[in-house]
Amino acid sequence: MPTDLPPHVLHLTRTACLVESRAHLYSGYLANVFRARGPRWREKFERWGEEEQTHGASLRAFLAQEDPRFDFARHLDDYLAHVPYHCDVEKSVYGSEQAELVARCFVEAMAASYYQALGSGAAVLQPLCRRLAADEARHFTMFRRLLETLREEEGARPLEAMHVLTKRLRALDDEQILYASWCVRGAQAPYVREEESKRYRAMIWQLYRPEHVRFVATLSLQTLGLSVAPARLHRLSALVHGVLSRGEEAGSLFPPC
Ligand SMILES: [Fe+2]
Ligand SMILES: [Fe+2]
Repeated sequence: MPTDLPPHVLHLTRTACLVESRAHLYSGYLANVFRARGPRWREKFERWGEEEQTHGASLRAFLAQEDPRFDFARHLDDYLAHVPYHCDVEKSVYGSEQAELVARCFVEAMAASYYQALGSGAAVLQPLCRRLAADEARHFTMFRRLLETLREEEGARPLEAMHVLTKRLRALDDEQILYASWCVRGAQAPYVREEESKRYRAMIWQLYRPEHVRFVATLSLQTLGLSVAPARLHRLSALVHGVLSRGEEAGSLFPPC
């Protein structure tokens, strides 16, 4: 039976399912980067990786009910074959352990906001998304605590942290998400990153509200060790949301799934 989920909500759920389903690569990478920190850190990353895997499995179970046409195995094979992750590296791709943790904090903040926004798109998806958003927020806290540990030991590096956040923001437009988005759409046309980016952004901005932007901004500022008065942050988030969401005309961009 065809799903009742709106097309953009269905698409973003499928995309998240794919991205979350290769979490074993993410935790393996972190275990390598922080090898010198010993077994306690490794166990944290292993537990984290297992939780991320459950996110992929939960989304897959949801889609099996709501969207039986979704060919998960085929899409995942395609995704894994075409989008490599940072495997077999001994050092953070961001340059240092602190930089890696800043990047992780931002990714977890984004993931939490993604599920908050996605859950608002369909009542049937809300309970699952609430649970996933809470997990991602907890992951943010774990990585932030580890970052604080390193800052106490080595001193904070605010410029490096700012640079990493900027780099991670730009990476939202790279293959890691966009190729997954293209795969789950059924790959009716060749993959063109710019076109997929436009489609993906259009879907995202149908769901993201100023409060989701504010949430990410608050956690990012915490990661940088900065604070902004709530009223100012409220105004800034509304402004950023208005600028980024303007002109994203989603309606015509959805071919039938
Ligand atoms: Fe996750
Ligand atoms: Fe997470």
